[in-house]
Amino acid sequence: MDQRILLVDGKKGGYLYGEALKTLRTNLQFCGPQIRAVLLTSCFPDEGKSDIAFHLAVELGKAGKRTLLLDADIRKSVYLTRYMVSSEVSGLSQFLSGQIKSLEQIVYQTNYANMDIIFSGPTAPNPSELLGQKLFRDMMAVLKKQYDYILVDTPPMGNLIDAAIAGQSCDGALLVVESGKASYKAEQKIKAQLEKSGCHVLGAVLNKVDIQQNRYYSSYYRKYKEYDSYEEAAESGAQE
Ligand SMILES: Nc1ncnc2c1ncn2[C@@H]1O[C@H](COP(=O)(O)OP(=O)(O)O)[C@@H](O)[C@H]1O
Ligand SMILES: [Mg+2]
Repeated sequence: MDQRILLVDGKKGGYLYGEALKTLRTNLQFCGPQIRAVLLTSCFPDEGKSDIAFHLAVELGKAGKRTLLLDADIRKSVYLTRYMVSSEVSGLSQFLSGQIKSLEQIVYQTNYANMDIIFSGPTAPNPSELLGQKLFRDMMAVLKKQYDYILVDTPPMGNLIDAAIAGQSCDGALLVVESGKASYKAEQKIKAQLEKSGCHVLGAVLNKVDIQQNRYYSSYYRKYKEYDSYEEAAESGAQE
């Protein structure tokens, strides 16, 4: 039984954000065919994990890859409100706690090409225990047979163990770093924690760079600004 859900992305990322995501998608594809289940994490909340996980999933889908966005942030999920999901959905916490028996019941096809989603489900009191079960590892093994890429969104690693646990079932991790927020020491600490779980860090994504303040990026930005206005002109033209 196929379940479908409509996701509405109300935010416009802009030309540079779109290009950066395409680069990220390409870099991920160059990691090789064995890297398919990818964890997204960071030190702190709000560094941009969920935003990047969603848009990277859309990009992979657009490139013809069968992609699953798996929300393993059972503590503070944002997808239902951020993408204006109005219908009642079932999710990961219900499957892992045995309230829902079949995996099919928590997988939703979306309105984006080749992109499916598993929502986190209702907040549970014991997320790390749920993710630490054999059931989660078995579920990931089944899903890896069905998808080219599984992007696993997680809570921040600063003081929560969930991401390191989920990482045990992933092939690699992307570390999202908000520009100017985390320290080198903090990043090294979570990198070591992930490696200890057997989850290799594939790379880091520097997010929320202030283009106006940063001289290196601002020269890059100036170079490409003309394309931005071109894109805006093209879009307004398309609306007429
Ligand atoms: N590159 C960016 N530029 C501006 N705002 C961003 C960027 N990435 C994320 N945000 C915003 O920051 C907030 C936190 O992002 P989110 O992806 O939910 O973070 P996390 O999952 O790491 O907690 C959201 O309101 C999101 O829209
Ligand atoms: Mg998040």
